[in-house]
Amino acid sequence: MTSEIKSAYLAAEGLTEPLLDELDGVIAVHDRLILSSKPFIDAHWAQNIWRTPQIVHIDSINDAAKKLKAIQRNWCLYSYQLHRRAKLIEENLNTNQKKPIIFPSLLSPAPPGSFALLDENTLLASTECSSPFPNGEAHFVEDKEGPPNRAYLKLYESLTLAGTRPQPGEFCIDVGGSPGGWAWVIHQCGAEVLSIDRSPLSPSVANLQGVSFQKRDAFSLLPEDFEQEGKTVDWLFSDLICYPEKLYEWILKWVESGKCKNFICTLKFKGKPDRSIIDQFASIPNSKVQHLFHNKNELTWFKLSQPAGSGL
Ligand SMILES: C[S@@+](CC[C@H](N)C(=O)[O-])C[C@H]1O[C@@H](n2cnc3c(N)ncnc32)[C@H](O)[C@@H]1O
Repeated sequence: MTSEIKSAYLAAEGLTEPLLDELDGVIAVHDRLILSSKPFIDAHWAQNIWRTPQIVHIDSINDAAKKLKAIQRNWCLYSYQLHRRAKLIEENLNTNQKKPIIFPSLLSPAPPGSFALLDENTLLASTECSSPFPNGEAHFVEDKEGPPNRAYLKLYESLTLAGTRPQPGEFCIDVGGSPGGWAWVIHQCGAEVLSIDRSPLSPSVANLQGVSFQKRDAFSLLPEDFEQEGKTVDWLFSDLICYPEKLYEWILKWVESGKCKNFICTLKFKGKPDRSIIDQFASIPNSKVQHLFHNKNELTWFKLSQPAGSGL
């Protein structure tokens, strides 16, 4: 069976089902780790994709560490069994992947490989993984004072993966912006932000310089609204709670207008996600749909004007 493994996928907590729906050739599921006999695909629901898994036979913990180090320096363990042995191999590797990221930061040029212990004497190891974060987990140094909620972590992760962020002098629209976690991040980046929601922003965000707010239905906001003001929209962010189909219809108007340079939008699902709307978003040229560590039953759609950073 081990010789058949061509790709492996790590699902997010509680989201193995939608990932399994995307995959062919599944030969085993070990907790959140799915092994497949088919070459990797860019599965939207994967938290991490092991693109080049190889079997490494080991005689001992030291032998395992030695063989992994001979392949490359940085490794991250996914442990689903034989936890003590796996942990000892990890300790022998002496890699320090656990440090939380300070936002903004550039991604490491040497992202970690991933390994798991398939049995006492067999490792599965992949040097090429889709996520630059260990096991796809983007842990940031948190700010417990500034942002009004934890939604800001989703934008921290998106912008870190994008390898770019709103710049001073740029203008951003943030639909579904209340209570203001995303607006707070955009303000931190030094850009101007217009937040739109039916509910108000938290006063601590509403009073920040460069943050403005309109209470209205986001879908009534159209690209031509900014023509008279002569404003360029550099970024359109959406964290709206709405049907993805409705968001798609509205976002297409913006994409087709050519009036906005960059898009980052959350697609939120109720229950089982619908594959066809995900495919529609993914087929918008130069865009990508992926599950973030800070997404729940959601995906994030990116369309960026610059070539994407190494994280996407
Ligand atoms: C998950 S919350 C957004 C959290 C926000 N991104 C933050 O960082 O604080 C989703 C928001 O979408 C807003 N919303 C949903 N449908 C809307 C619509 N049609 N127009 C404006 N706001 C809408 C809700 O009022 C809610 O505040």
